[in-house]
Amino acid sequence: MPLVTTKEMFKKAYEGGYAIGAFNVNNMEIVQGITEAAKEENAPLILQVSAGARKYAKHSYLVHLVQAAIEDTELPIALHLDHGADFEVCKSCIDGGFTSVMIDGSHHSFKDNMELTKRVVDYAHSKGVVVEGELGQLAGIEDNVNVSAENASYTQPEQVEEFVKSTGVDSLAIAIGTSHGAFKFKPGQKTQLRFDILEEVERRLPNFPIVLHGASSVIPKYVETINKNGGNIADAIGIPEDMLREAAKSAVCKINIDSDLRLALTAGIREHFVAHPDHFDPRQYLTPARANIKELVKHKLVYVLGCNGKA
Ligand code: G3H
Ligand code: 13P
Ligand code: ZN
Repeated sequence: MPLVTTKEMFKKAYEGGYAIGAFNVNNMEIVQGITEAAKEENAPLILQVSAGARKYAKHSYLVHLVQAAIEDTELPIALHLDHGADFEVCKSCIDGGFTSVMIDGSHHSFKDNMELTKRVVDYAHSKGVVVEGELGQLAGIEDNVNVSAENASYTQPEQVEEFVKSTGVDSLAIAIGTSHGAFKFKPGQKTQLRFDILEEVERRLPNFPIVLHGASSVIPKYVETINKNGGNIADAIGIPEDMLREAAKSAVCKINIDSDLRLALTAGIREHFVAHPDHFDPRQYLTPARANIKELVKHKLVYVLGCNGKA
């Protein structure tokens, strides 16, 4: 089976009231942990690659890892560029075999964002590739772009129809209070997502897939394991799972998860080294790390996204 686009996946997810997990990948163990979980749960998948991941692992290694995963699992998998910063990186991924790209023009003015997004859409569609755009800015860090909580801005629902109509994007990422990274809220701060904005966007864009970035829940089990085994990330806080489950039932068809994978992987490695300080074969500590990824992803597919059995 070749790589697929997200078109069919999103149509079914929208109609079925569930969401597809978009998991960030940058090495073999992460790809295997995610795809083995999806195989056991018979779930469709989006594997996404940031510019940083492309720099770290190299484009063709990632494409071939994902192709190997498709051969191994026979699942419908889309390969997506996460947070494409400009036309050139999107073009390079489109030309290099990706089936979906995000052009993140959210740091630009509304007009410049529209112009840039339309340019990417025109090129992508001519090659059969789908495009995700973004309106509104999330707080947090992604590829060295650090948006402070004060500079984050919710999506303005009154802009979405013009943006989608004039650019031709296939899906839209919106900002409703989620943020990138493992420190999404201050300790004691009330966790709030603006479901009212999501509902208004949904009303204005019928049958249109919405994307949530910054949607890791920072599962306490992995944070505790890291902290118990020499780490220090005591204040890590994510999005409560019940909120994500609610979002998955709405027009949100794609939920992005990276930080949870990092935490699960690191918890496995830290725990292993504390128990086995004499080990130095990477297979010894990457085996439990990969198993943690698999366990985490199975949990997400079944209890957060609801996309198990939908491949
Ligand atoms: O949204 C950002 C993703 O978590 C990717 O992070 O740019 O550090 O690879 P990265
Ligand atoms: P998290 O940092 O919450 O995992 O978000 C990942 C993301 O949005 C990737 O684009
Ligand atoms: Zn993101």
